[in-house]
Amino acid sequence: MRIDILTILPRLLDGPFADSILQRAQDNGLCEIVIHNIRDYSIHKQKQVDDYQFGGGAGMVMMVQPIADAIDKLKSEREYDEIIYLTPDGERLNQGICNSFSLKKNIIMLCGHYKGVDQRIRDHYITREISIGDYVLSGGELAAAVLVDSIVRLIPGAMNDETSALTDSFQDNLLAPPIYTRPADYNGWKVPEILTSGNTPKVEEWRFEQALEKTKTRRPDLLG
Ligand code: ADE
Repeated sequence: MRIDILTILPRLLDGPFADSILQRAQDNGLCEIVIHNIRDYSIHKQKQVDDYQFGGGAGMVMMVQPIADAIDKLKSEREYDEIIYLTPDGERLNQGICNSFSLKKNIIMLCGHYKGVDQRIRDHYITREISIGDYVLSGGELAAAVLVDSIVRLIPGAMNDETSALTDSFQDNLLAPPIYTRPADYNGWKVPEILTSGNTPKVEEWRFEQALEKTKTRRPDLLG
């Protein structure tokens, strides 16, 4: 899988992909993450990328030209399955969307700033608009980092057995059950006995019940 990220603040994305699972996935050739500075594509004086909005009003708008040229160049080099715009007014991200994106081959992610991008970019290039939650970030970069992380960890081989995605919260529309490690007794705080019983079917049953109970109280919406 290849993920191209278009941003005006590339440095914001230096850190998130340089450690742990994301770094390993890139080192092992499971994915390639390429950051592009939109400013490099501006044909305007002083590499301008934003301008005042037509009709007046506070806040700048990201211009069509630099973004259009950046996307056109990428599209001339390979086919893209999705061109995603990270925006608070997009479709709210969930595990199902992450699962489906993890099966794609090439994805472009566009990070917005200021008031956002000129609507014509959204009309003519963007295939999916994604929000990571009902709150507003100062730009799309951190949202893109969240989206990349949630996708790449699902690529077969990105995680080993110990970090398997199959037992994640949301993977079966249930929150994850409580987990414990040694010692079985910490100053009188004991681990539930069933977990040290060695009875695997009973452990699985307990985990399912706990997950169901937690989901009922915290996120009944997930149970539909
Ligand atoms: N850009 C700013 N806020 C955002 C959000 N909540 N999700 C995605 N992109 C954003």
